[in-house]
Amino acid sequence: MAQEQKNVVTLPARAVDKNSVTMTDNRTGQSYEFPILDGTEGPSLIDISKMYAKTGMFTYDPGFTSTGSCQSGITFIDGEKGILLHRGYPIEQLVAEASYLDVCYLLLHGELPAQIEKREFEKSITMHTMLHEQLTSFYRGFKRSAHPMAVMVGVVGALSAFYHEDTDIHDPLQRMIAAHRLIAKMPTIGAFAFKYSLGQPFMYPKNELSYAENLLRMMFAVPTEDYEINPIFARAVDRILILHADHEQNASTSTVRLAGSSGANPFACVASGIASLWGPAHGGANEAVLNMLGDIGDKRNIPKFIARAKDKNDNFRLMGFGHRVYKNFDPRAKVMKETCHEVLNELGIKDPVLPIALELERIALEDEYFIEKKLYPNVDFYSGIILRALGFPTQMFTVLFAIARTTGWVAHWKEMFTGDDSHRIGRPRQLYIGPKKRNFKRVENRKKSMPDWLKMWGGRNG
Ligand code: SDX
Repeated sequence: MAQEQKNVVTLPARAVDKNSVTMTDNRTGQSYEFPILDGTEGPSLIDISKMYAKTGMFTYDPGFTSTGSCQSGITFIDGEKGILLHRGYPIEQLVAEASYLDVCYLLLHGELPAQIEKREFEKSITMHTMLHEQLTSFYRGFKRSAHPMAVMVGVVGALSAFYHEDTDIHDPLQRMIAAHRLIAKMPTIGAFAFKYSLGQPFMYPKNELSYAENLLRMMFAVPTEDYEINPIFARAVDRILILHADHEQNASTSTVRLAGSSGANPFACVASGIASLWGPAHGGANEAVLNMLGDIGDKRNIPKFIARAKDKNDNFRLMGFGHRVYKNFDPRAKVMKETCHEVLNELGIKDPVLPIALELERIALEDEYFIEKKLYPNVDFYSGIILRALGFPTQMFTVLFAIARTTGWVAHWKEMFTGDDSHRIGRPRQLYIGPKKRNFKRVENRKKSMPDWLKMWGGRNG
């Protein structure tokens, strides 16, 4: 296995001496120079790391729409052209040619595995798929009806209470073991959450099965009969895992990086990523898309939902549409749509929501609002339809996303130890808009200050 190089950024961005920007404070006429950084691909970045020291001012960028948080060599996205590369390889080629574990190795180590590396990596992942038996009792603390993502956050966080012998995150070998344990155990944890919700016994992983085959068997097999792996299902699951493996500095990956920047336990960091992914604006969108298509119910209702999505006074959004980076088709959505048709045709399934999804996509893509705002289908728009065809319940869609994205999260966590932000805690500042300094008031001198709160609370207005 390639030894990790200490303190060498995978693809170092160069501070280009002659290239800089000049910023002038028009209040004082004072000018400041900031270097421009150029990576291998993509837009240039202005290095403002010395801005506060130079100017006494911060930058302001809520939602980080124009902010680069780190250097990374793992994934490149060109949102205008709809390009997604993992360590330089186009997502379309990886989905067609590689397995999910090949992509895990690529994201972790920077190269596709040669034969022996592939064999050793797959063996290591296989040997870590089981959970500590005590962890299985952890599930019993949840209601059977708990959302599986709530269970994932809890159980993955609980993993940080195990493996005390391997907690030195500054030891590359222990980091690698943690990465392998997380990649290997996520399908088991997710499948156990599903089994627990059904009241069915946990199905343990089997070493002779592939990653996707094990996930299917742990999800859908029962001890009372043999479970036959459908190769179409296994291949579709493997492709879906590849399509969700990593995506640059998205919200959940940035969450993992920020948690990891304090030196936190890697299992706890991934639990924070799961929590962030769960949101419907992020990974929770695949579940929200299916719920939305169910609410639409019939093609005739589509115009009503499109109108709601365009209405500024309605916080409804067309789930599965739009993206912070892609202002063109999400290349993953294209592959997902092809896979959707393939799986449904091969299985002879006629899912009533598919024609609604196709019609919704057609209408939206012709609508001025969506064209002007460059809102295209994203990775979540079709994934739920495939997952439902494969037998996954809607609430498990984001669990699948979390299983797949774990490899991206741990690859970025690992990269932090060799990147430009290594050993620096992430600590953004703010634009303070609260009260100026004031003196304490005794309760008898205080006037009621939160009438809305009291009304909402339904308390007595004093
Ligand atoms: C993922 O970052 C990643 O890489 C994420 C991800 C990954 O692999 O990690 O790709 C996975 O999270 C995909 C996105 C899944 N989420 C959804 O499908 C939920 C629906 N989409 C939106 O909520 C939204 O598009 C976001 C959250 C995805 C992006 O939001 P942005 O970049 O903050 O964009 P925005 O909210 O500023 O929207 C710009 C404009 C706004 O209108 P104006 O205020 O300019 O008038 O477009 C509108 C928005 O109201 N808009 C939408 C819309 N998405 C944006 N209007 C209707 N329907 C939508 N879906």
